[in-house]
Amino acid sequence: MTQFLLVTDLDNTLVGDDRALAILNQRLTQCRQVNGVKLVYSTGRSLTSYQQLSSEVTLLEPDVLITAVGTEIYYPGNILDQSWIEQSSAGWNRDAIVAITQQFPQLVPQPKSEQRTLKVSFLLNAEDAHILPELEAKIKNQGVDAQLIYSSNQDLDILSSRANKGNALAYIRQVLNFEPDRTIACGDSGNDIALFEQKTLGVIMGNAQPELVQWHHKNQSDDRHLAKAHCAAGILEGLQHFGFL
Ligand code: GLC
Ligand code: MG
Repeated sequence: MTQFLLVTDLDNTLVGDDRALAILNQRLTQCRQVNGVKLVYSTGRSLTSYQQLSSEVTLLEPDVLITAVGTEIYYPGNILDQSWIEQSSAGWNRDAIVAITQQFPQLVPQPKSEQRTLKVSFLLNAEDAHILPELEAKIKNQGVDAQLIYSSNQDLDILSSRANKGNALAYIRQVLNFEPDRTIACGDSGNDIALFEQKTLGVIMGNAQPELVQWHHKNQSDDRHLAKAHCAAGILEGLQHFGFL
């Protein structure tokens, strides 16, 4: 066992198979005590929605919690990293985004808890996803710096162009002082692509969504492992593949 930084998505990556999660939690607890392994969660959920999940499933306390698709970073005690929000805010105009999205009746706003300072989120049916290029063009034409991330054929996140799961990973990797070849990112859907675009080792779950698997095949890399196993068992498989367990 060696030292490494594990950055993992939650829904359908760490969470989804309770038995495999219990085994992984046990291994990680040992690794953290003996080898100084660090654990970071990177989720699309808000802090509130994360707290709901952690009341339903046994999750280890992470060293850092990245929420809202990388737009917010929390340290133990739910201390928000204000400097991350500030540095990610340049060029962002939330009101303009909301006004433009109101022109598209196909966009159904997600619950209030998921609407964040640097994130505006909707439900969008796969059959209506053809509106995305037009929506993106309208946003760009207004000079607003934003990125659109469509995941699992249902969730549309519009984020500040400076904050996503990948940028947050790069930032936290430096805060915690881990090299890319000691960092391992795990995910299963579209909002995790940004993680794998960073310099890092990566594990894609065997149960990953088509948008991520397609991206992986177009962007092959020896630093990325497409697991056969699902959810926490896929993470275990990846940690073994890279020689960390
Ligand atoms: C989580 C968030 C939601 C987001 C989705 C995909 O479900 O709660 O707001 O759209 O992840 O990123
Ligand atoms: Mg997921």
